[in-house]
Amino acid sequence: MNEIKHPLLNQNELNLALKEQGFEFEIVNEIDSTNSSIKKRLNSLNHKFVLAAEAQTKGRGRQNRSFVSHESKGIYCSVLWKMPFDAQQVRWFSLMSALALAQAILKVTGLRVDIKWPNDLYLRGKKIAGILIESELNPEQTEIALILGFGINVYKQDFEGELKDKVGTLEDFCDLSLDRNKLLIEILKEFDKTCEIPYTSESRLTYSRFNRLPQKKLRIQKNDYTFEAYLLGINEEGYMECIKENGEIMSLTVEEIHFV
Ligand code: BTN
Repeated sequence: MNEIKHPLLNQNELNLALKEQGFEFEIVNEIDSTNSSIKKRLNSLNHKFVLAAEAQTKGRGRQNRSFVSHESKGIYCSVLWKMPFDAQQVRWFSLMSALALAQAILKVTGLRVDIKWPNDLYLRGKKIAGILIESELNPEQTEIALILGFGINVYKQDFEGELKDKVGTLEDFCDLSLDRNKLLIEILKEFDKTCEIPYTSESRLTYSRFNRLPQKKLRIQKNDYTFEAYLLGINEEGYMECIKENGEIMSLTVEEIHFV
């Protein structure tokens, strides 16, 4: 079977479309990980530097997982965002980045994804995108550099082993011919609009509309303590709240909990 050739990521097209927003692009054919590469060059790169690769050899996900990044089949991209440090704003940034991806995908493909807290994207139960945010604070703790890495499975491809049943692509669910440049442009426009806005009840509501909460009791490990609870939704500080069987409500942060 002949492979269909999809357009490659195009640095000129991207630079031109997002000049007004001030993004600066570097597109490479292959790299270990776009997040790792930005991390190494953090001090010499500017706010809104964007690095995207056609393929990654060591794509990384959250909780030390790897992220499969087949050549030219997805968007593997990291954005450097430098801003004044505010813990609540950073929590919010993580949720808003998922919302930006969801809104852009809806706009370009008509597909309505579910956000699984904090920032995994699913279509009919299959994971199609994930976000890895890494950060570095300056010694005075006044400025933070966030590396916002996202991977989206765009075109149909074969996944191996246990991923086969768990992972999907946009193309699996969409008849339109997809262009990664157009999608990336829309994603970055959405990031630009939403990522740094302060918390508002309206944006919390919008996030909640996309956020699919499991309807079953979960086993949660918070540091050394394991318990069962239902997830309730995001509270005003950007924490996920859960309710235990005895009615106690607890708030959870991404860093300290695991579902077991
Ligand atoms: C996850 O699903 O746990 C997060 C996946 C994040 C993958 C992206 S691809 C671009 C960037 N570079 C990486 O090494 N990881 C992120």
